[in-house]
Amino acid sequence: MKALIDKLASENILTRDELVMFIENRDPDLDSYLFERAVAVRRRIYGNDIYIRGLIEFTNYCKNDCLYCGIRRSNKSAARYRLTDEDILTCCKTGYELGFRTFVLQGGDDAYYNDERICAMIRAIKTWYPDCALTLSIGEKSYESCRAYFNAGADRYLLRHETADDIHYKKLHPDEMLLSARKQCLYDLKAIGFQVGCGFMVGSPFQTAVHLAEDLLFIKDFEPEMVGIGPFIPHHDTPFAREPAGTLEMTLFMLALIRLLLPGVLLPSTTALGTIDPAGRELGILAGANVIMPNLSPPEVREKYLLYDNKSCQGEEAAEGLEDLKKTMEEIGCEIVIDRGDYIDGS
Ligand code: 5AD
Repeated sequence: MKALIDKLASENILTRDELVMFIENRDPDLDSYLFERAVAVRRRIYGNDIYIRGLIEFTNYCKNDCLYCGIRRSNKSAARYRLTDEDILTCCKTGYELGFRTFVLQGGDDAYYNDERICAMIRAIKTWYPDCALTLSIGEKSYESCRAYFNAGADRYLLRHETADDIHYKKLHPDEMLLSARKQCLYDLKAIGFQVGCGFMVGSPFQTAVHLAEDLLFIKDFEPEMVGIGPFIPHHDTPFAREPAGTLEMTLFMLALIRLLLPGVLLPSTTALGTIDPAGRELGILAGANVIMPNLSPPEVREKYLLYDNKSCQGEEAAEGLEDLKKTMEEIGCEIVIDRGDYIDGS
């Protein structure tokens, strides 16, 4: 198994069978060796720098009905909200003063925000904060829409592929959603010129080691600039309410493998990881992650953007907790930097 880690670290690839074997027989005794190798790669490329992204959750209306997600359209108990342009610009102002140089506009797939509204928002943010990167995370859109967002000035786009296996994708999503459409959108975003992020949940219902290996191979092949992963966490008002959550251990393992597969990738230690374990975010960094995305949304809407139960939005998870987060990062030998934090090709 140790030989596999060495091979992965030197060649940045493993075969499908090796990945499946490695995932199925994950040896906790080797975790520290794996994490050391992953952190060494992160340090070689990014030094001790950890990038922060200010997450603005601007709408929780969603036309989609993903079975795992708390803001799916069938969840009639969700209290819905939308932020105005003014609210969003206020979030950016707060964030800029705190030192954020990347804003992530994240929301459900909400038709109210048509292309015209999204483009106007992008232009406003880029006019006020020209030195900041702007990331969109607003779901699967047409080629034309994505191109309009890019032309309006958006820099990056996050769209998790969720799972690279068609049959598994069907089990997590309603019939009208297709993995092929999701992948097409990812390829479109890349062709348009966005820095693109894909990703998946660890421990989602029905997931096997083979699925995880396929996810890793898809990511390797797609070569995104960013990869977002976190444990699946059940939400009480969804069909998966009684499914078990993904584990801290498997998520950390996946983070380390992704760092070794794509050395330069921008890899967040996500809110979901911080939710299943109070030390999750630090542990993610110590497994090879290099990005943290604190919540910049107005405090009164934070509890409503509930993708899963107990979603953490207090303390170091919140933009106001940045000072504490800085200290925590210093304690593990890292430093939060005031920087857009663009992708560095590590090969
Ligand atoms: N647990 C963990 N992650 C979730 N997401 C949605 N619902 C859940 C859940 N129950 C993730 C999805 C989506 C991202 C915005 O949040 O991967 O792409």
